[in-house]
Amino acid sequence: MKLRGILYYSATAGHTADEQSQAGRRLALACIEVLRAAPAGAAPVDPASFEFPPRGKPRCVGGPDFSISHSAPLVACAAVSHGEVGLDVECDASVGRLTLATICDEAERAIAREKGVLHVWLAKEAALKAGGGTIEHIGAVRVFAGGASFRGAHYHEQRLELAGRWPACVMTSEPGVAFEVRCL
Ligand SMILES: CC(C)(COP(=O)(O)OP(=O)(O)OC[C@H]1O[C@@H](n2cnc3c(N)ncnc32)[C@H](O)[C@@H]1OP(=O)(O)O)[C@@H](O)C(=O)NCCC(=O)NCCS
Repeated sequence: MKLRGILYYSATAGHTADEQSQAGRRLALACIEVLRAAPAGAAPVDPASFEFPPRGKPRCVGGPDFSISHSAPLVACAAVSHGEVGLDVECDASVGRLTLATICDEAERAIAREKGVLHVWLAKEAALKAGGGTIEHIGAVRVFAGGASFRGAHYHEQRLELAGRWPACVMTSEPGVAFEVRCL
């Protein structure tokens, strides 16, 4: 089984929440189109097959799993051929130390001391989103070296740098997914 991942990002996505959401949806469509590798001339993916439930994990019915993240000026979407994926990008490095301190255990605080608060935050949010949790569940995500767990699932971490400067974290339920990163 060949595990494939694709991450599309856009650095010119607009600044309002609505513009960013629309950009995320375009990227999701592009990711799914790449992963389904349809033969030339096949009909494009129907945008109506996408569901965006309020505060829930978006999905493409019958299609592969994907995850969108925005942090102005960037919007990104990661999708995987198999299993689950969660993505978080942060262009604002000022993640609250206080907030993180209240949702971390001692092992996570040790990682934060060594690698930075943002490193732990990115991992927590990516795993949370892989599992479809909302911010209220973030205290249940446990981050460790190379991955995280949430609701009994184990996620494998990959760190990426987008546009040569913005840190991103991808969590996948399958190990060893090879991600292609493309700017759209
Ligand atoms: C998952 C969650 C934590 C994402 O928070 P966020 O700050 O909006 O993070 P991102 O920009 O990385 O992700 C947003 C995207 O994640 C996706 N998403 C939303 N809820 C999701 C969920 N439960 N699971 C997986 N993905 C989800 C959506 O595609 C959303 O973009 P869209 O609304 O434009 O389609 C969200 O459920 C939430 O609780 N948001 C409240 C805002 C908040 O408190 N954020 C914490 C930052 S301090």
